[in-house]
Amino acid sequence: MRYPEEIIEEVRMKNDIVDVVSGYVRLQKKGSSHFGLCPFHNEKSPSFSVSGSKQMFYCFGCGAGGNVFTFVMNYENYTFGEAVKLLADRAGVNLPELEYSEEMKQKENYRARLLEVNKEAAKYFYYQLRAPQGEGGLRYLEGRGLSGETIKKFGLGYSNKTSSDLTKYLKQKGYEDKLLQDAGLASFDERYGMHDKFWNRVMYPIQDINHRVIGFGGRVMGDGTPKYLNSQETQIFDKSRNLYGLNFARTARAGNIILCEGYMDVIALHQAGFTQAVASLGTAFTAGQANLLRRYTENVLLAYDSDGAGVNAALRAIGILKEVDLTGKVIDMSPYKDPDEFIKNLGKEAFQERIDGAENSFLFEIRILEREYDVKDPEEKTKFHKEIARRLCGFTVEVERENYLEAIAEKYNIGFEHLRRLVNTYASQTGLAKPIERPKSGVKQKNTPEENAKRMQRLLLTWLTDEPSLYLKIQKYISPQDFTEDLYRQVAEKLFAGMQGGSYNPADIISMFEDEEQQREVASLFNAKLEAVSTKKEREKAFHDILVAVKKNSLEYASQNLGSDIQAITRVVEGKRALQELEKTHISVD
Ligand code: UTP
Ligand code: MN
Repeated sequence: MRYPEEIIEEVRMKNDIVDVVSGYVRLQKKGSSHFGLCPFHNEKSPSFSVSGSKQMFYCFGCGAGGNVFTFVMNYENYTFGEAVKLLADRAGVNLPELEYSEEMKQKENYRARLLEVNKEAAKYFYYQLRAPQGEGGLRYLEGRGLSGETIKKFGLGYSNKTSSDLTKYLKQKGYEDKLLQDAGLASFDERYGMHDKFWNRVMYPIQDINHRVIGFGGRVMGDGTPKYLNSQETQIFDKSRNLYGLNFARTARAGNIILCEGYMDVIALHQAGFTQAVASLGTAFTAGQANLLRRYTENVLLAYDSDGAGVNAALRAIGILKEVDLTGKVIDMSPYKDPDEFIKNLGKEAFQERIDGAENSFLFEIRILEREYDVKDPEEKTKFHKEIARRLCGFTVEVERENYLEAIAEKYNIGFEHLRRLVNTYASQTGLAKPIERPKSGVKQKNTPEENAKRMQRLLLTWLTDEPSLYLKIQKYISPQDFTEDLYRQVAEKLFAGMQGGSYNPADIISMFEDEEQQREVASLFNAKLEAVSTKKEREKAFHDILVAVKKNSLEYASQNLGSDIQAITRVVEGKRALQELEKTHISVD
């Protein structure tokens, strides 16, 4: 479902990217661009650029980039449609109603009603906490060290002792029984009819990243069971794709996110200033949640309970983080049980020290593993070392494996060469002798011929968008087909067509790609880092080199991949001629 292209383009043109981004990031003008600290990764010196003429942003540090829609999508974590809506509102553009199917409309409507009734319930609980009947609840929360401000920030509330007053209240506001049941706020049984799910508990509303209430956790005020009662999963409450506190943590930009086990831990940490804390929702940490975290950080610090269950949960979470290429570290909570107790007893400075000293997750795993062996017994000790070797084989990148080998050998007092031999033996036994070096996703491998070719193509696209007048001078030699990467070719087609028609617009080209990853990549094509050369002669040589490189690569690609029909051969022959001519031609650059 999409708005018509013209409308999208109108919305884009009426939202100057420098204006919009300035609302989120402090920018400074430098040359033709504006620079600031990148909101998408942690940095100390600005590598985030916004270009008014290209109507694009690009971060030279982390590669985030795109047009004004991409920015809002990334920053607010919106879908494309949501971003269009926000910017249309901002610029006063009226969007046409989208044509939804009847079924989709109904589903969307019902979701909206679920959100609405949750919001009403949260307001009701919030109000009850401050009413005379909520005194016990308020005392409980204050007794646990929460300030009025914190209680307000998290919208904490109280559900009454009487067992159906919320239901009554909501019904009187016009919400039907089925909705209340579907939302997990009430249940029905033969004997009592409709009655509240939560009663006599302090209430923790669970919010999605856009601060909308999607469910509740309710805690008994004392030792009753269950300690926490949680809303069941609903159409709007997916426990494996939301995290408690993420609505605040996503803008904390602390360079890490602290993952805890409990609601109270999150609240206590935020109160102490660690607003980057989040927790899973009464269930184990999931891959969906890990993926969610990856949008905001590369570094996840685990602040799990220090007891046996907490350690096991931490080990599982480490595995899940690894799967999505996040680095996990473990915060040592001893001698306390959880972050809440830690902060209460030792304060925030001490907690910051523990953050700074967080343990590498592999070293943590090995430390926990050691507990399973009686290392005073030589046989057990050997088993322990073998298990270490087995796990070290999990690092397929050699330097990484060597670094861990070194760290472990030193820490556990094992001879480095001994351990290495053990690893090698193990590796050859299990066929891992020559591990394939697999680049970790996100870490770009440089300097392969393909990478180089792509880089030249990016440089050319960037240069042409910077100086569109050059296009006329080179169109004889270069066509979109010379771009061997699919996405690059599509972009070149659009860009060159625009340039021939005398109007081109890189930011508009970005909107043509719906996928966020693609938008990011397209933006990178217009923001390749041109080498800083100063004289005209150097610039001309650089531009010429890029052109020749692109053409050469295209020819090689064509002769390898196009087969031997007449058309392909003609193309190669013509390409060769163009290349020869190009090599001799002087192209002036202003
Ligand atoms: P904890 O027992 O560690 O609770 O459970 P807590 O968050 O530290 O709370 P306090 O300090 O005792 O008040 C950790 C998390 O496990 C889920 C909740 O999400 C809780 O925050 N949990 C625990 C439940 O869902 N139900 C339970 O009965 C217990
Ligand atoms: Mn606790």
